Amino acid sequence: MIITIIPMLGEMCAMKLIERIKNKEVSVAVIGMGYVGLPLMLRIAESGFKVTGIDLDINKVNMINQGNSYIEYINDEDIKSLVTNNRLDVKNNYNILEEYDVIIICVPTPITINNKPDLSYVKQAIETITNHLRSNHLIVLESTTFPGTTDEIILPILSQTEFKVGKDFFLGFSPERVDPGNIKYEIKNTSKLVSGITEKCTNLIYTFYSQFIDDVYKTSNTKIAEMSKLLENTFRNVNIALVNQLSLFCNVVGIDVWEVIEAASTKSFGYMPFYPGPGIGGHCIPIDPLYLTWKANEYDFLFSLVEISNYINNNMPNIVINRLKDILNNFGKALSGAKIMLLGMSYKKNISDIRESPGLKIFKQLQKNGASVMYNDPFVDEIDIDNKKHISQNLNENILNDCDCTVILTSHSSYDYKWILKNSTAVFDTRNATKDIKQYREKIVKL
Ligand SMILES: NC(=O)c1ccc[n+]([C@@H]2O[C@H](COP(=O)([O-])OP(=O)(O)OC[C@H]3O[C@@H](n4cnc5c(N)ncnc54)[C@H](O)[C@@H]3O)[C@@H](O)[C@H]2O)c1
Repeated sequence: MIITIIPMLGEMCAMKLIERIKNKEVSVAVIGMGYVGLPLMLRIAESGFKVTGIDLDINKVNMINQGNSYIEYINDEDIKSLVTNNRLDVKNNYNILEEYDVIIICVPTPITINNKPDLSYVKQAIETITNHLRSNHLIVLESTTFPGTTDEIILPILSQTEFKVGKDFFLGFSPERVDPGNIKYEIKNTSKLVSGITEKCTNLIYTFYSQFIDDVYKTSNTKIAEMSKLLENTFRNVNIALVNQLSLFCNVVGIDVWEVIEAASTKSFGYMPFYPGPGIGGHCIPIDPLYLTWKANEYDFLFSLVEISNYINNNMPNIVINRLKDILNNFGKALSGAKIMLLGMSYKKNISDIRESPGLKIFKQLQKNGASVMYNDPFVDEIDIDNKKHISQNLNENILNDCDCTVILTSHSSYDYKWILKNSTAVFDTRNATKDIKQYREKIVKL
């Protein structure tokens, strides 16, 4: 008798939780208030749930609670109205984690100095959750990671308690697909993968995300969802490597790679454009493929295509330096002693994120080569190179004119490229940002 009642109790708990999710009666905690966690928390709160953010960084906690944003494409007003209407708050401790029904984890998953996955943030968050675990908790990992993390690493930690997955608590993985700065695809209209350890877990997670995302897709297990995320970003990495290498060959044979890509893009099926550049940056494209190659190495499987793509992309900052040497050479100048202005330090246009940015590597390398380097970025006030602070320079005619070459590394929309061309001695354009400007073409060298 008892044996048949126990599964039924689990069933009833899950059904009750589903009802409470649909009625938006559950309270939600989002752990990690970064590029992923903050917009996610706002979207959940906007849709009618009560949400609490948790972050160890007290500055972020204070800023959000005061209604201030630290991500350029999130408005203060959007945060303020939710805070004042008591829809959200942020804490820098886990003290009352028992009070939340749904816990979403959005902490970093970087790599170690040996290019191995660093799950320390995830493990720390899970260990803390374990101390507060109660029945009916629904826990979802959103951080990007290798297949097997949810069921082989997280589940055993949570299972050290008296609680059983799928019966007492529910666990799954749902990869974040945020594209920082993209105003067309936001959280609501970006389809979302969900997966759970058991079918009940998957159904609960599906129900939860369906309350604030238009299109939610169930995968049959957590490994599929984890591997899908790695596929999505490795796909970008490999295709960027392809066009980066194509740009090198086009340079050898004197063909404009940008026009080649524009021409190929006229094909309405079987092709999508990727663009060359000075290298890849951010928390995803350079790092996620390393999670894949690391996992492959565990099985003695050489993921050669990804390895070579990483090599090609990581070498692009060196290519930029070498091309710059050639450009200066044509004016009878050496890189050593040359004055170089770098435009755009963030890894992507119109955002401030400098993590893994090729601009930092180029700045450092140029300095090592004896150049006098400065930079401007409307989104990045200061950078640290070899423990020395450098401040974004205000652009004016004199400063540009005084430089031997201006290098466009990130094509922020706010730049007046015609004015930059007019006032620069020479411009090395690694992003094709100057393509629509008819004048001063003789000053431009493109990647
Ligand atoms: N940035 C993106 O565009 C993007 C897109 C898709 C997926 N992802 C993935 O999402 C995850 C988070 O990325 P992000 O860009 O938001 O990182 P982030 O560094 O911007 O933010 C992470 C936040 O987590 C906090 N944190 C770290 N450990 C914590 C802990 N134990 N408890 C509470 N807070 C903690 C940090 O203080 C930080 O504020 C990563 O796995 C990343 O790969 C990122």
